[in-house]
Amino acid sequence: MLNKIGLIGGGYIGGVLAQEIAMRKLAKEVGLADPAPFLNPDDPPERQEVIKKQSVAIGKCLDIAEGLPTIRRDVRLVGSKDYSAIKDAELIINTAGVPRKARPDGTFPSREELLTINLKVTNQVAAAIQENCPNATIISIANPLDAIVYTLNKRLNPPKNKLMGMAGQLDSGRYCYFVADAANVSVENVNALVLGGHGDTMVPVRSSCSIAGIPVEKFLDDDTLKAIEARTRKAGGEVVGLLGFGSAFVSPAWAALHMAEAIIYDKRKVLPVCAMLEGEYGVNGMFVGVPAIVGKNGVEKVIELDLTDEEKAAFEHSAGAVRKTCDEVDEMLRNL
Ligand code: LAC
Repeated sequence: MLNKIGLIGGGYIGGVLAQEIAMRKLAKEVGLADPAPFLNPDDPPERQEVIKKQSVAIGKCLDIAEGLPTIRRDVRLVGSKDYSAIKDAELIINTAGVPRKARPDGTFPSREELLTINLKVTNQVAAAIQENCPNATIISIANPLDAIVYTLNKRLNPPKNKLMGMAGQLDSGRYCYFVADAANVSVENVNALVLGGHGDTMVPVRSSCSIAGIPVEKFLDDDTLKAIEARTRKAGGEVVGLLGFGSAFVSPAWAALHMAEAIIYDKRKVLPVCAMLEGEYGVNGMFVGVPAIVGKNGVEKVIELDLTDEEKAAFEHSAGAVRKTCDEVDEMLRNL
């Protein structure tokens, strides 16, 4: 159990995180920071007074705290309408930023299209971490995932093991779920890795996919697997299109907590993680999804897989897409 976990962003993912941390007894204290709802200078003064008093973070914390006697948990929940709630956190989970949301015509933006707005938010998030908990280990979920982690690294320059992005665990979970469903077997039997960037170029690695240790091809034919892999790459968008009001929030929160538990309990679990690469997989100076051992120090070791030629080419293509977004980050940070 940690002394304190700090959550940045009190949206849907932040709410599930706070609730699950309490339920799973992962920390003595949870700090939830979110400046929303925001003041609109065009609103009449009376309305502005009301908005000033409202806080999604304080409200969610109070809601969960009032349920603690029922679930029999002693956890301190602290919300703030600024970033003070994350003070002295040992682990930060960052969800701050706008999510993808379906447009009235049913289409929705790519994760990369969120960059301009979420980069500004991330700049504030980095300053808040620097001020309140500069030594915290950071798991970031906000999109575009790989580019936001890259931005946090540019702003904070932490030891490379202490900063990582949550994407592969979610994407691999989706791949495993679709395989379990198609093969009609328990989700507990399926293992698989999805690597690369957290965008439509992500790479479901079939050579890593097995059911109870048996290669997945024993259970499913090539056409079925191709369809599952295509669905996995677009799975985030599928949920955005269905929900209408935003993006997936339960499975991303659980995926981040899976990583957090590996750190808190020093499990040394091999997980797909968006980690800083310095030459591994032919990538340098960028955060991309790869398998890594995760333990008390965060990313303990990146594991280099022997990918098939096809998987290698797909990984390089995906890393290229991440590079393009990171170049945009560099440009935007110069002009910020
Ligand atoms: C998704 C978002 C959270 O993939 O990136 O659902």
